Amino acid sequence: MRTGGTDEAITMTMRKVNVAILVLLAVAFLIIVQRNLLNLSDFLHKEHPDAGMILPFESELSPDLGLELVRKGEEIPVLITAAEERLGSVIAAMNSIYQNSKANIVFTIVTLNDTVDHLKVWLSKTKLNNVNYKIVIFKPELLNGKIAKDPQTLEASKPLTFARFYLSAYIPEAEKAIYLDDDVIVQGDIQDLFETPIKPGHAAAFSEDCDSASAKGIVRGAGTQNNYIGFLDFKKEAIKKLGMRANTCSFNPGVIIANLTEWKNQNITQQLEHWMELNTKEDLYSKTLAESITTPPLLIVFYKRHSSIDPMWHVRHLGTTGAGNRYSPQFVKAAKLLHWNGHYKPWGRTSSFSDVWDKWFLPDPTGKFVPVRRHTD
Ligand SMILES: *[C@@H]1O[C@H](CO)[C@@H](O)[C@H](O)[C@H]1NC(C)=O
Ligand SMILES: *[C@@H]1O[C@H](CO)[C@@H](O)[C@H](O)[C@H]1NC(C)=O
Ligand SMILES: *[C@@H]1O[C@H](CO)[C@@H](O)[C@H](O)[C@H]1NC(C)=O
Ligand SMILES: *[C@@H]1O[C@H](CO)[C@@H](O)[C@H](O)[C@H]1NC(C)=O
Repeated sequence: MRTGGTDEAITMTMRKVNVAILVLLAVAFLIIVQRNLLNLSDFLHKEHPDAGMILPFESELSPDLGLELVRKGEEIPVLITAAEERLGSVIAAMNSIYQNSKANIVFTIVTLNDTVDHLKVWLSKTKLNNVNYKIVIFKPELLNGKIAKDPQTLEASKPLTFARFYLSAYIPEAEKAIYLDDDVIVQGDIQDLFETPIKPGHAAAFSEDCDSASAKGIVRGAGTQNNYIGFLDFKKEAIKKLGMRANTCSFNPGVIIANLTEWKNQNITQQLEHWMELNTKEDLYSKTLAESITTPPLLIVFYKRHSSIDPMWHVRHLGTTGAGNRYSPQFVKAAKLLHWNGHYKPWGRTSSFSDVWDKWFLPDPTGKFVPVRRHTD
């Protein structure tokens, strides 16, 4: 009896242990399966080339398997322009933004009517086919009477550079938005840029030209302008009347974070148009203006009324003679956003750090756009 009772007790205990072991095994199995699944999805959505590691960006892995997660959460509106003759730049920029973030990015691409078909083919036949985007057609008539019909100013023939003035009109539903020039590569998570604080009463944040990168002497002496007098003619009455200090640090409008509520409340677009119109009559911009003609009206309208962007989120002058080459590869690698402003574009014949740009470029399926390179191998 006693032994029988003990045996029964032992059997019961054994069963309990067996059940416990089975449960543990099942849990362990589930954990392993889940981990591996997570790892798989991690790998598929691997968004950033880790130090020294080069991922096969040209691989069709992610879109073809159709495993791209639906991106949820707060929308991050990004406005960018697509000019036919440099369409590869917007593709590389978008690819870098998209692959380096898991955020719910919505691109608004402003382009001319004739570019729409080419752009759509390029987006749909590459790994950008999952990207959430809208195309808006820029109407060049918008600029009638606002830019001089002077072919001398090269950019007058580039109407899309003015698209940023109409930010609140292109993204009417958003409160906050990002504008980016097409000659950028984003290496950080765009969510961080989006979270740039905009002070109350400010309609936008820009990166100033006297930021730490310039202060370190990296850019100084490269022949770039960094104060208001480099952009505006302070001898003109209309400028004098504003009482602005000529040596005020200028900013580069290639990266803009905007509070579109303030933008609309302050009539920023109308104010910019006003200065454009006045310039066609009174020639208010500096005679030595080397950079974008979209900058002077922005400098006037946002004088002492803008917030700042983290300097690492707008590392620029990569397209200026010599300047880009002064950056160390370590600095370029650490930069969150690289901007090839200046004449030497990374898809052109000679440019610094074009290898960085190449990593994000996706070849044109129509074959129309091909980066020009000095050495072809
Ligand atoms: C999955 O990821 C975890 C942590 O990231 C790691 O410890 C584990 O080795 C990975 N497993 C596989 C199969 O890659
Ligand atoms: C835009 O292009 C399409 C053909 O691609 C053409 O049918 C249409 O008329 C054009 N629209 C304008 C406003 O030029
Ligand atoms: C934008 O500006 C409005 C009006 O001043 C303000 O209420 C709002 O909080 C601002 N939003 C952001 C994201 O800064
Ligand atoms: C913006 O424009 C509207 C209509 O033209 C005007 O009523 C308003 O006063 C303007 N606001 C500012 C801040 O200039």
